[in-house]
Amino acid sequence: MECRFPRFTERYVSIVFLLSYVLNPAFSVTHYAVPEEMKEGSVVANVAADLGLDVNSLAERNVRLDVVANKKYLEINRETGDLYIAEKIDREYLCLSKSSCFLKIDVIIDNPLRIFNIDLEILDINDNAPRFRRERTELDVSESASPGERFSLNNAVDTDVGSNTVRTYQLSESEHFTIEVQTGRDGSKFVDLILKKDLDREERALHNLTLTAVDGGVPARSGTASIIVRVLDVNDNAPRFEQDAYTVNITENSPIGSFVIKLHAVDLDEGTNSQIKYSFSLYTSEKTQKMFDLNSENGEIRIKEMINYEEFIIYEMDIEAKDQGHKPLSGQCKLTIFVVDVNDNHPELSIKSFQTPIKEDVAVNTVIAVVSVSDKDSGENGIVDLNISKLLPFELKKSSENYYELVISEPLDREKVPEYEIIFIVTDRGIPPLSDNETITLELLDINDNAPLFSKSFYTIPVLENNAPGSLLSSLSAFDPDLHENQYLVYFIIEKEIVNTSMSMLFSINPENGDLYALKTFDYEREKEFLFHIEARDSGVPPLSSNVTVHIIIMDQNDNTPVIVSPWRSTFYFYSCCHGTCLFFRFLTNYVNQV
Ligand SMILES: *[C@@H]1O[C@H](CO)[C@@H](O)[C@H](O)[C@H]1NC(C)=O
Ligand SMILES: *[C@@H]1O[C@H](CO)[C@@H](O)[C@H](O)[C@H]1NC(C)=O
Ligand SMILES: *[C@@H]1O[C@H](CO)[C@@H](O)[C@H](O)[C@H]1NC(C)=O
Ligand SMILES: *[C@@H]1O[C@H](CO)[C@@H](O)[C@H](O)[C@H]1NC(C)=O
Ligand SMILES: *[C@@H]1O[C@H](CO)[C@@H](O)[C@H](O)[C@H]1NC(C)=O
Ligand SMILES: *[C@@H]1O[C@H](CO)[C@@H](O)[C@H](O)[C@H]1NC(C)=O
Repeated sequence: MECRFPRFTERYVSIVFLLSYVLNPAFSVTHYAVPEEMKEGSVVANVAADLGLDVNSLAERNVRLDVVANKKYLEINRETGDLYIAEKIDREYLCLSKSSCFLKIDVIIDNPLRIFNIDLEILDINDNAPRFRRERTELDVSESASPGERFSLNNAVDTDVGSNTVRTYQLSESEHFTIEVQTGRDGSKFVDLILKKDLDREERALHNLTLTAVDGGVPARSGTASIIVRVLDVNDNAPRFEQDAYTVNITENSPIGSFVIKLHAVDLDEGTNSQIKYSFSLYTSEKTQKMFDLNSENGEIRIKEMINYEEFIIYEMDIEAKDQGHKPLSGQCKLTIFVVDVNDNHPELSIKSFQTPIKEDVAVNTVIAVVSVSDKDSGENGIVDLNISKLLPFELKKSSENYYELVISEPLDREKVPEYEIIFIVTDRGIPPLSDNETITLELLDINDNAPLFSKSFYTIPVLENNAPGSLLSSLSAFDPDLHENQYLVYFIIEKEIVNTSMSMLFSINPENGDLYALKTFDYEREKEFLFHIEARDSGVPPLSSNVTVHIIIMDQNDNTPVIVSPWRSTFYFYSCCHGTCLFFRFLTNYVNQV
């Protein structure tokens, strides 16, 4: 710059001078033109030469300048006649925004007095950059603004003139905005910001743009301003849950007020457009709404009423999140609540059929009872085991789902155990397990399965001869463990022929109690012993009986004077009278001896 000006100036000055001199020789105003901001000392022109003055007389004639402006920008060299810059000239200071700027200078010379008018044109150089009055502009633009919408921006000013003033504007790279430059009537440039693409606050809430004003100087100067576009929210986003569907488990009988889940929806908008209220949608059943409490502010769901697994296993609900915008938007999600079973129901036990009393000879595997079991709980809590109390001759057999049969597993014997107390215990597999019990009493009916039993199998009864007829010899009672008629015994002598007589003529037995009596008086010298059987028979159907052998030994008394009898054969006779009936007895002594 510094090196270019002098040459440019010289040529320019000379052309201007020549033109003015030729056009107006009589009243001549000499024109010079210099660019502003020339260095002090720079020569504008040689006034002596241009005005036809003698260089040597300049000092003598007191050549001087009269500058209109207060400031003395120029000076004349009295030796050479050169007009030079005494102080830098700022065109913008001098002429502000005037498009042309002249400094009127009079050259005055004495002896004789002469005044020459000089018009010094101060030429603009591009020494000022465009400047924005506000370095920062803030704009609020609704995100619903449509492309093409324009927003005027404050323009930049450049104190230079002509081509050195603002020529154009540039906007920093932006996807959404562009600018349009317009020229005013006076040539000044205005700029509008234009939306070229839809805004989305949720994507970008602030656009930080830089507007640059460029002047037309060479080289060009520029100034910048920042434009902050704040995007104003419109309710264009519906609340969204993090998941479309939620699943949660709760255990039944949880205390009222227990926390279930906290749902959370997000709304990308801001302010009331993003404030969310939660509610059950219309699709959620009344029943479900009755059981659960939804906090409309924070989305928390809590238990409102006692949850019973046995009543309801799954609750489904639709939750709506609605923002508080002017035209509210909403989002939904599904919540499924599974109820987890707790072992809160006792197993149940029911005797469906039971047969008592039963005969003691009942066959093994006979079903005597049918029991059903149930438990309202589910899973392990609802699986039940049925047991009977102690080790008993019974067995439980599963007959069908939840049904058991109690069967005889071993032969029974009323005479050993006349009745059984059977306790059924049903237990579930929950932790801790719950149980129930039921007792039945099984009574056995007697069967004639026991024969009467004598205390001895062989009775030896000594009898002194000469006994009184009808005397009690012994009591041969037997015992029968059966009951009633099965126990009711009848005794009798098993009849046996002995030489024209029978045992019942000699002995009699009380059929009811087994007392044995002698019917006649025995004589040792005639009969020494008797051997016969006595039977005891119960009254069952069919009856059972048993017998014992009775050995009667007649014992001697000294009642005879000695006589001689045949050693081989001896027969004797006698009558025995009992209750008015007399029987005739004949004994063969050798037979008696043989028995
Ligand atoms: C805009 O961007 C400029 C530079 O990139 C930065 O200095 C300024 O802080 C930004 N302004 C805002 C409001 O973000
Ligand atoms: C709910 O319980 C089931 C089994 O009862 C289990 O498989 C599932 O993982 C549980 N879900 C949650 C969310 O705990
Ligand atoms: C009850 O019976 C089940 C089989 O039904 C068996 O596994 C269990 O051990 C029994 N419990 C008792 C206490 O006897
Ligand atoms: C039977 O149940 C009752 C209560 O119902 C209980 O007191 C008793 O101990 C139970 N008996 C057995 C053998 O479990
Ligand atoms: C037995 O009685 C019969 C007549 O009833 C008689 O003929 C017989 O001789 C008798 N026998 C003896 C051994 O007395
Ligand atoms: C006596 O009983 C036995 C069995 O105990 C039997 O064998 C016998 O025949 C019976 N005797 C009579 C005479 O009935």
